[in-house]
Amino acid sequence: MTSEVSKRESFSGKYGFIAAAAGSAIGLGNIWKFPYITGVHGGSAFILVYLICILLIGLPVMLSEITMGRRSQKGIFGSYKKLAPGTPWFFSGYMGIAAAFLILSFYGVVAGWTMEYVLKAIGGSFSGKTPDQINAMFESFIGQTLKPVFWQTGFMAFTGAIVIAGIKNGIEKYSKILMPVLLMILLLLCARSVTLDGASKGFEFLFKPDFSKLTREAILAALGHAFFSLSLGMGTLITYGSYLKKNENLVPLAIQITIADTVIALLAGIAIFPAVFAFGIEPTAGPSLVFVTLPNVFQHMPLGNFFCVLFFLLLFIAALTSSISILEVVVAHLVEDFNISRKPAAIAITIVMILFGIPSSLSFGSLSGLSVFGLSFFDLVDHIASNFLLPLGGLCIVLFVGWQLKPGDVKDELSNGGTIETGYLKIFLFLTKIVAPIAIAAIFFHGLKII
Ligand code: TRP
Repeated sequence: MTSEVSKRESFSGKYGFIAAAAGSAIGLGNIWKFPYITGVHGGSAFILVYLICILLIGLPVMLSEITMGRRSQKGIFGSYKKLAPGTPWFFSGYMGIAAAFLILSFYGVVAGWTMEYVLKAIGGSFSGKTPDQINAMFESFIGQTLKPVFWQTGFMAFTGAIVIAGIKNGIEKYSKILMPVLLMILLLLCARSVTLDGASKGFEFLFKPDFSKLTREAILAALGHAFFSLSLGMGTLITYGSYLKKNENLVPLAIQITIADTVIALLAGIAIFPAVFAFGIEPTAGPSLVFVTLPNVFQHMPLGNFFCVLFFLLLFIAALTSSISILEVVVAHLVEDFNISRKPAAIAITIVMILFGIPSSLSFGSLSGLSVFGLSFFDLVDHIASNFLLPLGGLCIVLFVGWQLKPGDVKDELSNGGTIETGYLKIFLFLTKIVAPIAIAAIFFHGLKII
């Protein structure tokens, strides 16, 4: 920005926005978390509920966030304050801040694992190992005290440095080239996985719905993951929407990001589950699932070691383009609303997040005995953030756009001041006002055993 009165910086066209928003959405959520929670919650029926949540809740929330952002030209707090001055809506922004702290604390731990795995793959550690040995290797790594914390700190330092240097856009430019490569490797993995002996069971697990496995927790987890995977409920896409030019058409943008994110998650599922059954790995293994299964698949591929190195490297970068979008939510809040300068804000927050992530990391080792409500510290933090804070933040966002903003303003935003057709406006308003809020509330109370 050149002067106070200059217009807010904007993305250089819609591809800049898509790269940033897709970079935020596509990350560990798609490749690590989606397969692991699908395994824990019994497969196909969970996936079906997840897809319904994406369509009926995720998409309207995403469009609402982008609409708020572009309308107000502000982040989450500024947006609420500018669009509804003098109202308490902005308080819900604090849930987003809390979610950002919690999520990045454990996200950094898992992203740190990908860094260790790049090195392990370079050293050829997986060559000739059996599935059991690869599993033991993973367990012994995450059970240590110092090494995982070292990598977690390293990853968070990268995240902090990028946010401080303000080179997010630079990273997103690289990721525009690198993410298609990740997609290619994922496709190769799928091809190998589905042709393994015994792969068909994995297909059944993924695509033949068994509704008897659908618990309250599974439905709540599917909702929470729709938010997590699409980067919703925290204000990330409000901020990104605020950088969009007034002549971009918001609906196709939201649809494209949603499709890209969902396709990557489903491909990760197809790459993993046939192999899980072929190698006799437990589908309910939890957070270790991807780290144990995929090195095995690479062992059964020509140039497997090479692809394995590349895969974990790209997964690390995918995690980085997501983590910077989370850190940015908190840093932008301190900078915009408290006038703290960017550098000390980012350093302080990164340090707090690292410290808060340490018990999550240790919950796989020295703190494994600790359980709260039957959950490990790692699971507890994820649970509170993904299944509570994000859906509640999202609920506020759809209620705000559906009921607080004037329909004329929403129409103005979606039709770019009346210049494009908005035949879908009625559907969007119906989903935003009624369907999404009721569905979020119902799943939420059902998950809490209130209804
Ligand atoms: N969506 C990212 C992933 O799937 C994680 C993420 C980035 C996120 N920004 C977010 C989750 C904002 C919730 C809210 O890995």
